[in-house]
Amino acid sequence: MDLFQYRNNELFCEEVSIEQIVRDVGTPCYVYSASTLVNHYKRIADAFAELDPLICYSIKSCSNLHICKLLASAGAGFDVVSGGELYRGIQAGGDPAKMVYAGVGKTDAEINQALDAGLGWFNIESVPELENLQKITAQRKIVSRAALRINPDIDPKTHRYTATGKKHSKFGVAIERAEEIVKKYAKHDYLRMTGLHLHIGSPINSTEPFIEAIEKVLRLIDGLRKDGFEIDTLDIGGGFGADYTKDQSPVSTTYAAAMVPLLKNSGLKIIMEPGRSIAANSGILVTQVLFEKDSEEKSFAIVDAGMNDLIRPALYEAFHFIWPTKIAQGMLPPVRSERPDLPNLKKYDVVGPICESGDCFAHDRYLPRVNRGELMAIFTAGAYGFSMSSQYNSRPRAAEVLVQGNLTRLIRRRETYQDLIQAEVFE
Ligand code: LLP
Repeated sequence: MDLFQYRNNELFCEEVSIEQIVRDVGTPCYVYSASTLVNHYKRIADAFAELDPLICYSIKSCSNLHICKLLASAGAGFDVVSGGELYRGIQAGGDPAKMVYAGVGKTDAEINQALDAGLGWFNIESVPELENLQKITAQRKIVSRAALRINPDIDPKTHRYTATGKKHSKFGVAIERAEEIVKKYAKHDYLRMTGLHLHIGSPINSTEPFIEAIEKVLRLIDGLRKDGFEIDTLDIGGGFGADYTKDQSPVSTTYAAAMVPLLKNSGLKIIMEPGRSIAANSGILVTQVLFEKDSEEKSFAIVDAGMNDLIRPALYEAFHFIWPTKIAQGMLPPVRSERPDLPNLKKYDVVGPICESGDCFAHDRYLPRVNRGELMAIFTAGAYGFSMSSQYNSRPRAAEVLVQGNLTRLIRRRETYQDLIQAEVFE
């Protein structure tokens, strides 16, 4: 459920019409619903309440400071993957002690930055990284905590670019090697490696891969505990799905029903790292139709957003539901369906202005006939939308707007041409 709803044939975010927002900020723009963000966070917290987990919102999914701040105020910690995300999390008012830091290539500068900040957990991805972290904590005489990321060799049944827990992935250490690594490295004066970490991919639209991964890692923890090693924390990562199409993803309570029974008597502090399940349906990308172009073979709806604004369709062939923000009577969109059963639809490729054929938001999509100047909403764009956007083709990045009730706040202004060149050293 989200708070992007049609009222009197017009799309609203909470209490504000999209048209009103566009009058103020133009297109393309991202519009987020604050209440949806917080509701999604709370839904996860409620579903998993029995475990009292630390929920670390995955900053990479949607990184705007206002959104991070909103979630921190709701109780979230942060999952970060770079010094920049750590900086962002702190700027947003997040507590570094409630942050976890994953990533296969943390630099010494980033490690020092995290130690200075008092980071909660380093999620360790390899033995060389572990040795380096032990060296730095010992040199600086700073006590810190770490969780070893386990690669359980499980197929999350998602796009190959976002599957992270299969054997040949660059992430974590093979589960078969984990015992030997913990035994060799766990006893250290400064680095307390008393946790394990999992993140097997994203999005995972079923519970089975999670169950399989957790069961495998619990067996590992059992063995380690029997040998006298203290493991007190398990970070189960992110990866919950979102409804790009109707009912595509299990709801939080379904994930919880599968996972909580496995974990509740484990004596482990549980950490979670959801991103998409909080942010995806909390945001849309609004774009304007520039032209309708008919060729012999195809019709194109040419819009003013491009793959630089939302790269998911180009990169993963991801499906995003698209519909006009103002509709004729009777054309209420069927909830995120790939082939709406409505009269007088026309088949379009919805494309952007960028000089690549991959700059296409939808192939052969059935839409009400488009008109120049009308606004289209690209739904489920809150996660990995703006955060993956770029200035490719020297296109200033879009504006971001956060709506709460009837209040609208510009949380990132549209970039200017000056912004495009300001970091370039040119005299
Ligand atoms: N934790 C770690 C260590 C991660 O690498 C990720 C996502 C998450 C948590 C959050 O996963 P989520 O709950 O959002 O599924 N750009 C892709 C998704 C890449 C995910 C990268 N890691 C997309 O647009 O689908």
